[in-house]
Amino acid sequence: MNVPGTFTLGPGDGNARTGCLTTAHGDVETPIFMPVGTQGTVKSLCPTDLHDLKAQIILGNTYHLYLRPGDELVAKLGGLHRFMGWDGPILTDSGGFQVFSLSGLRQIAEEGVTFSSHIDGSRHLFSPEKVIAIQQNLGSDIMMVLDECVPYGADRAYTEKSLALTTRWARRCRQAHPGGHRGQLLFGIVQGGFFKDLRAESAAQLLEIGFDGYALGGLSVGESREEMYDILGDATPLLPADRPRYLMGVGAPRDLLAGMAAGIDMFDCVLPTRNARNGTLFTFQGKVNIKRAEYREDDTPLDPTCPCYACQTFSKAYLRHLYVARELLSYRLNTLHNLTFFSIMMERARQAIRDGRFAAFRAEMEAVYPTDEE
Ligand code: GUN
Ligand code: ZN
Repeated sequence: MNVPGTFTLGPGDGNARTGCLTTAHGDVETPIFMPVGTQGTVKSLCPTDLHDLKAQIILGNTYHLYLRPGDELVAKLGGLHRFMGWDGPILTDSGGFQVFSLSGLRQIAEEGVTFSSHIDGSRHLFSPEKVIAIQQNLGSDIMMVLDECVPYGADRAYTEKSLALTTRWARRCRQAHPGGHRGQLLFGIVQGGFFKDLRAESAAQLLEIGFDGYALGGLSVGESREEMYDILGDATPLLPADRPRYLMGVGAPRDLLAGMAAGIDMFDCVLPTRNARNGTLFTFQGKVNIKRAEYREDDTPLDPTCPCYACQTFSKAYLRHLYVARELLSYRLNTLHNLTFFSIMMERARQAIRDGRFAAFRAEMEAVYPTDEE
């Protein structure tokens, strides 16, 4: 049994690689897509569903769980794994990103970021030490440092200043969690906006501090695909080859493939779960908008080759009916299906990398998921 943080690389294909990351709650095969469970639940699913669709690790959010029900309550009730009934690995985002995207009246200072709760308007401070303490209370397997995700379009002066602060915060996070504590790993987050030299500076500074893994943040913030792929291709090789690399908040099938091609190991995104709830379903034949009238009398399964309960049991006509009637089961079946699709796509990608045919697999998927769609 490996110690948490052990990362073993398997066969690669070009820059794409396979690997295995050991956490305190089990091993994760990489490249991996992590379903998002913001509030201690992957919306509409049970942990048994997640096991069935072979989810190997899920994501939780420090920001939400701190505000409600509170990290101290979660700790008192045995930690997030026990609280939510999921015994597999959990990664928690630090809260920095959510503070910037969800809360009101933010104030950034050396000490940390002060913000208003999106729930009741109350004021709170997230400092590097505070977000580490919260994530220790939650007991996640992988914790993220506090960072500022630089808004798209920020100029060089702003980005430089923000990066310097993000690096100082990263150092304080590492000092607050030198390692050890319940085998919890700590990942650094590369920022630097769309300035390649700042990205390089960020990576070098984080490497010098030393983390268990390294993330690329500040992407998928409104830039074009070309801009994102440009930074991705440039910044990924700056991350150490022997540590897991995580592309935060990405993404659509073709973006996952671009990430893997660049050498990324981990991804998370609300896309499959959020799209499920608005009736957009992913299949290996392309996207299906289940609300369309053409499915009204369609007695065939969404994808006859999909092992998920929705595809094995119901017709497109029934899935359309549930969606149109806004029935709760619609959210659940659609989420089961989309996460099953992402899980299978990632398994196929890993196998393609092992077999040395990743480029062909990528081309196949890109033909089904053209650039003019998600
Ligand atoms: N999720 C998506 N992008 C980011 C980022 O830049 N920072 C953090 N902490 N989380 C993210
Ligand atoms: Zn299915």
